[in-house]
Amino acid sequence: MKATVENNDAERAAADIFNSVVASAAIGAAWELGALDELDRDGKVDPADFAARHDLHEPSTRGMFTALASVRVVERRQHTYVMGPNFGEVFRHRSLFHWLSLGCGELFAKMPYVLRNENRVGDYYRRDAAAISYACREINTRYFDPAFWAAMDGLDYAFGVVADLGSGSGERLMQLVERYPGTRGIGVEIAPAALELSRADVAEKGFADRISFFEGDVRALADRPEFAEVDLLTCFMMGHDFWPREDCVAVLRRLRRTFPRVRRFLLGDATRLPGVAETELPIFTLGFEVGHDLMDVYLPTLEEWDGVFAEAGWRCVRRHLITTLTRSVVFELE
Ligand SMILES: C[S@@+](CC[C@H](N)C(=O)[O-])C[C@H]1O[C@@H](n2cnc3c(N)ncnc32)[C@H](O)[C@@H]1O
Repeated sequence: MKATVENNDAERAAADIFNSVVASAAIGAAWELGALDELDRDGKVDPADFAARHDLHEPSTRGMFTALASVRVVERRQHTYVMGPNFGEVFRHRSLFHWLSLGCGELFAKMPYVLRNENRVGDYYRRDAAAISYACREINTRYFDPAFWAAMDGLDYAFGVVADLGSGSGERLMQLVERYPGTRGIGVEIAPAALELSRADVAEKGFADRISFFEGDVRALADRPEFAEVDLLTCFMMGHDFWPREDCVAVLRRLRRTFPRVRRFLLGDATRLPGVAETELPIFTLGFEVGHDLMDVYLPTLEEWDGVFAEAGWRCVRRHLITTLTRSVVFELE
C-alpha cells in the first residue's frame, strides 16, 4: 500500500537525519584525531587498537565509528572498519564537517535562543574560534589555494610586505614568507584566541622575526607606520564581514588609505548562492548561510561583490570561480 511505503520512507529518513547529526560530529572528531587519515592510508582501522594508541576512551571511540558507519562513511568487518561507499566524498570535505560541528556547534544548538529578538544584543552567540581556525587551514588548502597560488604566480611585481586581513591561524602568512625569501608579513585579527594561537605557531616555526600580528578590526583600522610599508594585501573568508554594501564601499576605500602602497589585493570568500531548491543544496551552503543569518552577518552574492569594487576605487583584474565550496571566488584587485 502506497501510504505504508511513504511512511516507511519517512521513518527511515527521520532516523537518517538524526543519525547524520551525530555522524557530522564524528566526522570532525575522526579527522582531528587522525582516524580518517589512517583509514585513507591503511584502508582499515580497529577501534580498540586506535583508542589504545591514541589514549582515547574505548567505548566512545567505538561510538564514533558506529556513527560513521550509520552514514556509510565506514563499514564494519568483524573487529575492524574499512572505508564505506561515502568515505571518499566525506574525506574530501572533512574540514566542512569540522567547521560545522566543532566550530559552529554551539551557535546551531542555541537556535531557539538566538532567534528571539530579545536575546539578540551584545555577544548573544558563541563559536569556537580555535576550531574554526583549525578547519579554515584545510578549507584554504582544499578549496582556495589553487586559485590563490595561481594569482600569486601571476603577480607582476616582487612584493616586500604582505598584510593578511583576518589572519586566523597565520598559516597564509607563514606560507607566503617561506615561499618568497626576504619578504615580511603582518596579520590583522580581531579574535584574541586566534591571535594567541597564530603568534605561538609563528614563533614555534621560526618566523617570529618576519611575521607580526596586530589586534584590530579590519573594518575600522587606525593608521600605523607598519601598514605604510605593505605592498600586497590578502583577505580570505572574512570579506563578507565588510558588508552590507554601503559599509563595504567605505571599508574598501579606507583600506586604500590605510595601506597606501598596496598594488594588489587578493580577496577570497564564499558567497551567497541564490536560486537553488532547498532539497538540492550542495554541501556547506546551508550551514554557511543559515549560520550567518543567525549571527546577523550579511552575505553578498557574487554579483553584489562584482558591483562594489569600482565605486570603492578598486579594479578587478581577474576573478577565479571556485564551485566546489558553495559558490566561492578569489578576486584580484588593484
Ligand atoms: C573564517 S576565518 C578565516 C581565517 C583566515 N583568513 C584563513 O583564511 O584561514 C575568519 C577570521 O577573520 C577574523 N575576523 C572576522 N572579522 C574580523 C574583523 N572585523 N577584523 C579582523 N578580523 C576579523 C576572525 O576572527 C577569523 O579569525
